[in-house]
Amino acid sequence: IPVDLFDLVIFGGTGDLAQRKILPALFRRFCGGQMPNGARIIAAARADLSQAAYKAMISKAIHTYGGNFANDSVALDAFLDCLTYSRVDATGDIGWPELTTLMEQGQGARVTIFYFSVGPNLFGPLAERLHKHGLAQESSRIVVEKPFGRDLESARALNATLATHFCEGQIYRIDHYLGKETVQNLMAIRFGNMLFEPLWNSQYVDHIQITVAETVGIAGREAYYDRSGAMRDMMQNHLMQLLCLIAMEPPAKFDPDAVRDEKLKVIRALDTVEPHHIVRGQYQAQQGADDRHDAYRETVGNLRSTTESYIALRAHISNWRWAGTPFYLRTGKKLVARSSVINVFFKDAPHSIFGEDAGRHANLLSIRLQPNEGITLKVTIKEPGPGGMRLMDVPLDMTFSEALGAAGGNPPDAYERLIMDVIRGNQTLFMRGDEVEAAWAWTDPIIAGWQSRGDVPKPYDSGSTGPDDADLLMRRDLREWQGINP
Ligand code: BG6
Repeated sequence: IPVDLFDLVIFGGTGDLAQRKILPALFRRFCGGQMPNGARIIAAARADLSQAAYKAMISKAIHTYGGNFANDSVALDAFLDCLTYSRVDATGDIGWPELTTLMEQGQGARVTIFYFSVGPNLFGPLAERLHKHGLAQESSRIVVEKPFGRDLESARALNATLATHFCEGQIYRIDHYLGKETVQNLMAIRFGNMLFEPLWNSQYVDHIQITVAETVGIAGREAYYDRSGAMRDMMQNHLMQLLCLIAMEPPAKFDPDAVRDEKLKVIRALDTVEPHHIVRGQYQAQQGADDRHDAYRETVGNLRSTTESYIALRAHISNWRWAGTPFYLRTGKKLVARSSVINVFFKDAPHSIFGEDAGRHANLLSIRLQPNEGITLKVTIKEPGPGGMRLMDVPLDMTFSEALGAAGGNPPDAYERLIMDVIRGNQTLFMRGDEVEAAWAWTDPIIAGWQSRGDVPKPYDSGSTGPDDADLLMRRDLREWQGINP
């Protein structure tokens, strides 16, 4: 798909996200031939840096995070030629006239994008200054990152602030999970095949599990994390997006509002979660381990912290398709393995013609989002041999890297896809304001509930699969978790 000429201004141009994700992603797209001649990247930040010093900083970042192309020095030099550093104070006057002049120097019609890679407290000041200096045009686009608020009230306030100078069609709210190749694949699997969709409802699906397990802890972002916890950091956004894509009705077409309308309906149909369907956990040092830093409370330096680094819950979607099918969602840090997987458990066949001895067998569709991206469908077959009609389960397994070669094994980083979509003006993979607010409206009472009850998260060993109570949550329903494999 051709890409229009663009000017991309990154506020927070010296920040961690710009160095680790945004600029390396742009560099890879540059190497992929997707940056038109004359396109400009303007990195803006408060530091007083020379062009040479900034380029040296980014060159180092690209060597570290640039992936396969990072050692192509000719490409890197050419990419750095498209990059300009501009000293700008988001809350003051410094640098704005110079940035305005720089923008005016852009030749020919170009798409203008302002990437707010800064804390949400700067969204308002930036939007105002862009307006005041005549930079916020009707055709400009802005990109904002999570966290988009910490509750419904603050999310509404942020939406209102942005709406003062930009309309919804100009705002691109990033949830980087939507940029992941395998997450987009969820829609292809559901709506590109005839095989699954007729069975995709409570009549045939017993329950669905969504797991996002991480081995990393929270070191380096203690202050942010301890104020947020797993519910705000992961559940309200990434797991919610996965739930929407799994549960939504087929949109009439793959177009931004058609898709986002259907996702919004799912969020709005979610019931309030009962307290006994929520398990919060906090990692502690593994029994016998010397390294005390593996304990959450010591890492954040607050021995009384009640912030959860793990959450599991049972959600219900009250609509015709899903009434009676529970969705179990869990996510946590410092778990035994990194594994994001969606498991769709189908019901048992209504009647076994093979009698009691054949045992109970049901189909399971596992969609592995990361790592080892792929799909496995568990099917029931006859056990080989002359021993009568006994049944067994076998996996129909497809690992994308094996089936699709290099393209399947090395998917582009989420930011590559998302930034190119902003440049192309496609909002399908970005969250709409009402969607974010609806997700907070579901989240807020859950958090308020445990705060008013004074609940303390259950300890779990770092390197384990999470707190025992999460297993109990399942056992009470005569089910068990699947999907964190070391
Ligand atoms: C971020 C969260 O949004 O997503 C982090 O703030 C989390 O806490 C990260 O580790 C997970 O992303 P990924 O792409 O590594 O699964």
